[in-house]
Amino acid sequence: MATTILIGAQWGDEGKGKIIDVLTERATWVVRAQGGNNAGHTVEVGDEKFVLHLVPSGVLHAGKRCVIGNGVVLDPVSLVEEIDGLTARGFPVAERLHISDRAHVVFPYHRMLDAQGEARRAKGEQIGTTQRGIGPAYGDKAARFGLRMADLLDPEFPTLLTSRVAEKNRALAALGAPTVDAAEILAATQKAMKTLGPLVCDTVPLLYDAVARGEEMLFEGAQGILLDIDFGTYPYVTSSNAASGGACTGSGVPPNRMDRVVGVLKAYVTRVGEGPFPTELHDATGEELRRVGNEFGATTGRPRRCGWFDAVAARHAVMTCGVDEWALTKLDVLDGFATLNICTAYELDGRRIAHFPANVRELARCKPVYEEHPGWQASTRGAKRLEDLPPAAQTYIARLEELTGVPVGILSLGPRRADTILRGVHA
Ligand code: GDP
Ligand code: IMO
Ligand code: MG
Repeated sequence: MATTILIGAQWGDEGKGKIIDVLTERATWVVRAQGGNNAGHTVEVGDEKFVLHLVPSGVLHAGKRCVIGNGVVLDPVSLVEEIDGLTARGFPVAERLHISDRAHVVFPYHRMLDAQGEARRAKGEQIGTTQRGIGPAYGDKAARFGLRMADLLDPEFPTLLTSRVAEKNRALAALGAPTVDAAEILAATQKAMKTLGPLVCDTVPLLYDAVARGEEMLFEGAQGILLDIDFGTYPYVTSSNAASGGACTGSGVPPNRMDRVVGVLKAYVTRVGEGPFPTELHDATGEELRRVGNEFGATTGRPRRCGWFDAVAARHAVMTCGVDEWALTKLDVLDGFATLNICTAYELDGRRIAHFPANVRELARCKPVYEEHPGWQASTRGAKRLEDLPPAAQTYIARLEELTGVPVGILSLGPRRADTILRGVHA
């Protein structure tokens, strides 16, 4: 498999960072193609824990090359902080990282407008964004008012920035918010560009040549399909295409060069931020999932909402992303539960439906139709083959495969590389 797209198949935080880290062993390139530092991808190596936001998770492996593609929105100051932090821990990021000159830049006014936008929404309409300026930066990209990494290296950058800041300050002042200082932003950006400038290039020929040579490439999705701007629970979504198609538009590697899609799927469901979540548990079982699964945001520290596995949502991921196999994560978190529920369909206004509705008001009215399964109440940690798992755990996995029509190729039973069972093409 030369080119593999890895996507989140739920509302993000499925364990993409861990699976990327496992798959990177065989890859030469790891490419981020959408999202920004709203992502928080956790990788545990030995006793050390890393949370990566903008830097592709492959950076923790020597000899791998990492790319931040054109589809990413990038906050230069925060990227330099991340690079410095990793470098101080012994990972020479600068040697391994290439940044697309087409990637759009997130400025402080985007973050401020993100916060203002949230504060000004009507009660109940807040999105619960990560406040990293993601929506306003993608908004400027679509409105053709954004600045890209190439602009930051252009002698005209100070003039370009000044006109953006003037316009954004008018917007901020109209909202009664503090304004920003162009000179301050210019200085901070230019300082960050001392580190980033040498890493910026046209990543299109770089990736084209690597694909032509048949080198193994991994596209590291951020967020998840249910947060995708087109296929997610709009408007409670992020502002990029987290679906597999985003890997193409966000990197310049065309669809007919992509070989495989791996969907990362948690054995239950979590969501951080607002928006409908049909299988959400508001009871002690939800609390228990949060506690055992340590479900607190890797970027914002917010508690994640937890609920049962949702096969309707998983099938939505299959249809929109062309998932070839699942990487099923956090099965170990279910070890202690006496019974497990799997949502097989929704009931909407008295009708049974099997698809994921576009209208969030309808989705909020959907009641999950559950199928109850006995838990295994035994530890799955340390299992090396699927056959080593308790029979009830094997049945649970087989049922997820059956309901989604997609096999589990990777099974994750803990946060570390060793806690992984590889099957099929990976074995
Ligand atoms: P990502 O955004 O998809 O990369 O996921 P996050 O890093 O935000 O959240 C996943 C969390 O689950 C991290 O703390 C991981 O270390 C942890 N994790 C990943 N896979 C497993 C697993 O199979 N079992 C357990 N118990 N934890 C896992
Ligand atoms: P990873 O890559 C989980 C959520 C936010 C909010 C919505 C919009 O770690 O899986 P944004 O700041 O993007 O405008 O917020 O999307 N969100 C995530 N939730 N994991 C993520 O990334 C997320 N990135 C954004 O909580 O509900
Ligand atoms: Mg995360």
